[in-house]
Amino acid sequence: MQEHLEKILIREEEIARRLDELAADITHDYQGKDLTVLAILNGSLIFMADLLRRIPLPLELDCIRVKSYHGGKTSTGQVEFDRTALPNLRNRHLLLLDDILDSGHTLAAIIDTIRTGSAPLSLRSCVLLRKAKVRSRPVEADYVGFDIQDEFVVGYGLDYQERYRNLPLIGVLKEQA
Ligand code: IMP
Ligand code: MG
Repeated sequence: MQEHLEKILIREEEIARRLDELAADITHDYQGKDLTVLAILNGSLIFMADLLRRIPLPLELDCIRVKSYHGGKTSTGQVEFDRTALPNLRNRHLLLLDDILDSGHTLAAIIDTIRTGSAPLSLRSCVLLRKAKVRSRPVEADYVGFDIQDEFVVGYGLDYQERYRNLPLIGVLKEQA
């Protein structure tokens, strides 16, 4: 698969090192708190698995499957998920995990739904990647793995038409791939 890449942006070892730091921050911030992590699938699957195993807290884990529609490589702004699938967050601190903060539609839609539904004690979000761009929705992430340029990336959970999620690193596809 790597031959489909125009360039490698972030290597495996770099991801691992950054996850150590992120996990240390999160562990420190949620010490003694009832934490629920809600991972936004499919994109955050690999990030979630690698990050959470570095966090020695008795957290609860839940996942929500979200479909955001893309016209090619850009978001159309339509976000679909099952609102009844959200966990009970009463008296819990909630940390959302997503693969990438791009247009902001996905995180904004989930945050809106959580705020109007089951108000948790606190609500933060953590993304592996944050694209430098003007977002359609003004959302910020509290924990960010890497800031990247506004270009389409794949690997480590991120897909192009459902492929390349299992690449262990993050890269940019060749035009013809
Ligand atoms: P949003 O545009 O911030 O709502 O991001 C929606 C979703 O689009 C993300 O969770 C990713 O699954 C996907 N996405 C956005 N940018 C990229 C990219 O560069 N590569 C692969 N998927 C992306
Ligand atoms: Mg995707």
